[in-house]
Amino acid sequence: MRADVHHWDAVMRTWQRTRPQRLWRQHSDIVTEAMLERWLPHTRIERLLKTDLFDEAVHTGLCPMLARRARQVIGIDLSTRVAKAAGRPLALASDVTSLPFCDGIFDVVVSNSTLDHFDSTDQIRVALDEIHRVIRPGGVLVLTLDNLSNPLIALRNRLPPHWIRRIGLVPYQVGATLGPQAVARMLDEVGFDLEQEDTLIHCPRFLAVALLRMVEARRLRTVDQYLLRGLMAFERLKAWPTRFCTGHYVAVRAVRRRML
Ligand SMILES: C[S@@+](CC[C@H](N)C(=O)[O-])C[C@H]1O[C@@H](n2cnc3c(N)ncnc32)[C@H](O)[C@@H]1O
Repeated sequence: MRADVHHWDAVMRTWQRTRPQRLWRQHSDIVTEAMLERWLPHTRIERLLKTDLFDEAVHTGLCPMLARRARQVIGIDLSTRVAKAAGRPLALASDVTSLPFCDGIFDVVVSNSTLDHFDSTDQIRVALDEIHRVIRPGGVLVLTLDNLSNPLIALRNRLPPHWIRRIGLVPYQVGATLGPQAVARMLDEVGFDLEQEDTLIHCPRFLAVALLRMVEARRLRTVDQYLLRGLMAFERLKAWPTRFCTGHYVAVRAVRRRML
C-alpha cells in the first residue's frame, strides 16, 4: 500500500495545482447525494464512517450532507494529503483494509468508489471484511464500485494502465472491480444481507468529462446549470432494463447480518 500512498498524494498535488473537473465533481456529488438521501436510515445515526475523502478534497463532497444525517461523521483516506485537503475535523489518514477502530462502532459506512482502486478482487474482499468488522450488527453499508457489467468499464480495465493515463481517460489508477452479481455474492459471503441495488452515472463519462473540460476552459459559467441538467437526464436510464450496461457504478445498500 506504500506505493499507493505516494500515488494518491501525487494525484492530489496535481489536482490542487490544476483544479480540473469542477462540473464533473458537482454532478458526481449530486447523483451520489440523491442515492444517500434514499438509502441512509431514517432513524438516528450516531456514528458514520466514510471510507475516502477525495470528494471532499476536490469539491464540496458528501460530508456536509452526511453531517446533517449523522451525529458524528468520521472520514478516512489512505493519502494524508487528501485527508488534509478535505479539511474535516474528523479526517484521518488510514487504510480501509486495516481500520483503526474497535469492532461494531459504526451505524453506517459509506464507501463510494474507494474499493475499486486495488490490484485484485481479493483486496476488495479484505476491505469488506474490515468494514463488516467495524459496523454494528444491523448497521448499514452503502457501497459503490465501478460496474464491470458496463462494457466501457470492462474494456477500460483491460487497457494497460499507462494508456489510460496517457489518453486522459482517468487521471488516477483504476483497479479490479466487480459486476452486480459478484458484488452480491461477495457481500453475502462476508456477512451482509443485500437490501437494494442500483446503478449510477449513466452519461458516457469520457465524453461528458471532455465536454465539461471545454466549457470550463472557456469560462462559460452561464451554461453550468443547463449542462448539469443535461447530465442528470441520463440518470433516467436507470429505469431501463439495460441499466447494468449503461451505469458507471453499481451501488448497493446492505445490512450487517445479526448473529442468530
Ligand atoms: C479516485 S478516488 C475516488 C473516490 C471518490 N469517493 C469518488 O467517488 O470519486 C479514490 C480515493 O480513495 C483513496 N484510497 C485508495 N486506496 C485507499 C485505501 N486502501 N484506504 C483508504 N482510502 C483509499 C484515495 O486516496 C482516493 O482519495
